[in-house]
Amino acid sequence: MSEKKEVLHVGIDLGTSRSSISASNGQRHVIESYVGWPLDMVAKRVLKKPVLIGREALENRSMLDLHRPLEEGLIKDGSEKDEAAVRELLRHLLGLVGVDPDNRNGMPVRAVVGVPAEALRVNKQQVRKALQNAVDNLLIVSEPFAVAYGIEALLHTMIIDSGAGTTDFCVMNGRLPTEEDQRTLPQAGDFIDEALMRLIRGRYPEAKFSIHMVREWKEAGSFVGPPKNPVVVTAPVNGKPTQLDISQEMRQACESILPPMVESMLDLLSRVQPEFQEKVRNNIVLSGGTGLIRGLGPRLEAELQVVGGGKVRVVKDPIFVGSDGGLAIAIDAPDSDWERLSA
Ligand SMILES: Nc1ncnc2c1ncn2[C@@H]1O[C@H](COP(=O)(O)OP(=O)(O)OP(=O)(O)O)[C@@H](O)[C@H]1O
Ligand SMILES: [Mg+2]
Repeated sequence: MSEKKEVLHVGIDLGTSRSSISASNGQRHVIESYVGWPLDMVAKRVLKKPVLIGREALENRSMLDLHRPLEEGLIKDGSEKDEAAVRELLRHLLGLVGVDPDNRNGMPVRAVVGVPAEALRVNKQQVRKALQNAVDNLLIVSEPFAVAYGIEALLHTMIIDSGAGTTDFCVMNGRLPTEEDQRTLPQAGDFIDEALMRLIRGRYPEAKFSIHMVREWKEAGSFVGPPKNPVVVTAPVNGKPTQLDISQEMRQACESILPPMVESMLDLLSRVQPEFQEKVRNNIVLSGGTGLIRGLGPRLEAELQVVGGGKVRVVKDPIFVGSDGGLAIAIDAPDSDWERLSA
């Protein structure tokens, strides 16, 4: 007992668009998953920093070699800069909760890191490398499992965690999930952003806008099903701010993730032991930023009608559920589950 008290436990949700950390010292932080290095000597002089992270990097992107190192749930392979970016992100998160990754004389640190379900094997090596010498013990888990653990949805439940890069599914049977209990789809927030960008371009070829603007428009006006209010945004056309109605495009882009999502949900349900299927159908949890699309939960419920109906609960404040879950796992995990990272 007394030994456990002297360890700092942390849970990290390494996300495509946002990464969060929850620590046993009560600290919780979230950053945007961007890392940038000044492009040239002018940028270096203006920015006065060797590397910028999070919102600060995004806001100064014109002066930076900007990296978003996780895409479609995978740490981009082969690029040294992306590997370095993951390292910077993880070390920055540790710094925010008071761990100095370069001076590990303090408390031993045990970190649980959540990564997308199917990328587990590929990403493990990269995360391990990035955290070498920065923490003492590491445990890598699938993102939806961390979410399930955090909200104590451990028995006869299905977690659907739809983020930016991936939509992850996990059925919980009251024990650690296996590969068959999980699934990852590349259709999530980024996929919608690209679809929306293409659709608006098609309808308003003269308008000028960036993918960052499109993402903001989506976060403010996303919906599936019949529109309630028109979605109107402002973008320059020939230099003049102009109002554009993008309701139809918004609906189409948001609905583009529905077919694969519904298919995976129904397929995973059909593999649950028959006596428990009804329980799981009535215990579906929709988490992640993309889970906030207006009307998505009810639409998934409607799709469950063909198999006898069910219930989908939406996690309203999904920012820290993954890292809080990671922290809970870190505190509960037995010594034998941890791998040692530094001597
Ligand atoms: N109200 C909203 N409607 C639609 N999408 C939203 C809304 N709010 C946030 N998002 C989207 O949710 C995504 C971010 O969600 P989240 O933080 O769960 O992802 P992540 O954990 O970074 O990604 P991943 O889990 O795929 O690695 C982004 O694509 C963002 O644009
Ligand atoms: Mg996530």
